[in-house]
Amino acid sequence: MGLGTAALGRQQYINLPLRNKPTFDLASFRQDGLRILETAYQEGIRYFDTAPGYGMAEQLVSNWALDKNDPTIEIATKWGYTYVANFDPNATQHEIKEHSLAKLDAQWSSSKDLLPLLTTYQIHSATFESGVLQNKSILARLLELKDQFNLLIGITTSGPNQIEVLKKSLDIDLKGKGLFDVFQITYNVFDQSIGPMAETIKDQKKRLIIKEALANGRIFPNPDYANYKEAYQKLDLLAQKYKVGADAIAIRFNMDSIPVYKVLSGASKPAHIHANLQALNFELEQEDLESLKELATDPRYYWEERKALAWN
Ligand SMILES: NC(=O)c1ccc[n+]([C@@H]2O[C@H](COP(=O)([O-])OP(=O)(O)OC[C@H]3O[C@@H](n4cnc5c(N)ncnc54)[C@H](OP(=O)(O)O)[C@@H]3O)[C@@H](O)[C@H]2O)c1
Repeated sequence: MGLGTAALGRQQYINLPLRNKPTFDLASFRQDGLRILETAYQEGIRYFDTAPGYGMAEQLVSNWALDKNDPTIEIATKWGYTYVANFDPNATQHEIKEHSLAKLDAQWSSSKDLLPLLTTYQIHSATFESGVLQNKSILARLLELKDQFNLLIGITTSGPNQIEVLKKSLDIDLKGKGLFDVFQITYNVFDQSIGPMAETIKDQKKRLIIKEALANGRIFPNPDYANYKEAYQKLDLLAQKYKVGADAIAIRFNMDSIPVYKVLSGASKPAHIHANLQALNFELEQEDLESLKELATDPRYYWEERKALAWN
């Protein structure tokens, strides 16, 4: 497993609303973030995913990891989003997406400080609309970075057409070799659309990284999601059977149903990291795996629901 740091760098994130949210204080938020990174490390996590779009997360990971100086730590970062909310709880705009060569160069100039622990450099949320996969100068620059710094180059995808974006990026060849090595995608019990591509990615010796493994928290019983009543019951029964939480069942489903390099935990509390990691202590029996496969929803529906989640 790896740790995603989206929730460690800015206090608001697309998620389910928190009840009794504490008052925000930047210095304690920073200390909490460092504590989470250290907890994840002490519990055995060595893969950390970050981005300049996640507020101070990249800086936090950089300070913490370079201080740790452990060559087994792997860092993945991204380029393409700029955080603009300045930790203002009333901000209406949180990030700006820009897939231009100028943005790539500007963000690389600070992300390169993560070297030598930086192994993976990703286009943050590659889409057909942003034109990034057709932009020859950006692709050529990524190839230069790949060769010069021995990086794995990746994309992250979201939305109902992840499969199409994945196929397009797998087809991009520069100077006779595929540019992209890493694909960070959404896959969970509700959106299983990427499943059919997973073996192809493995056969090509490329890496599949799963984000939003818990559907942003939607796998936990919630009266606002009556549509998942059957899913909640199923996850609860399996949680009792394997003596773990529903989160570990959902994460284990990701590991047992398709070949993956890492599943990212999006937890921002030490207890949740610990609970998520229980997924590493068991394997799902085949009939349980098949039963969880039945929870798949239409990806168009899944992403409509995801869009309705607010910044909380
Ligand atoms: N590239 C992209 O466009 C993109 C988009 C989204 C995410 N990501 C990456 O993927 C990572 C994970 O995404 P995510 O945060 O959306 O994923 P997630 O793992 O699906 O959901 C995280 C949510 O689940 C809650 N949770 C975890 N364990 C829990 C437990 N045992 N009990 C109750 N609640 C629990 C967390 O609460 P707490 O915070 O309270 O622990 C958090 O609200 C991110 O950090 C980021 O690195 C990338």
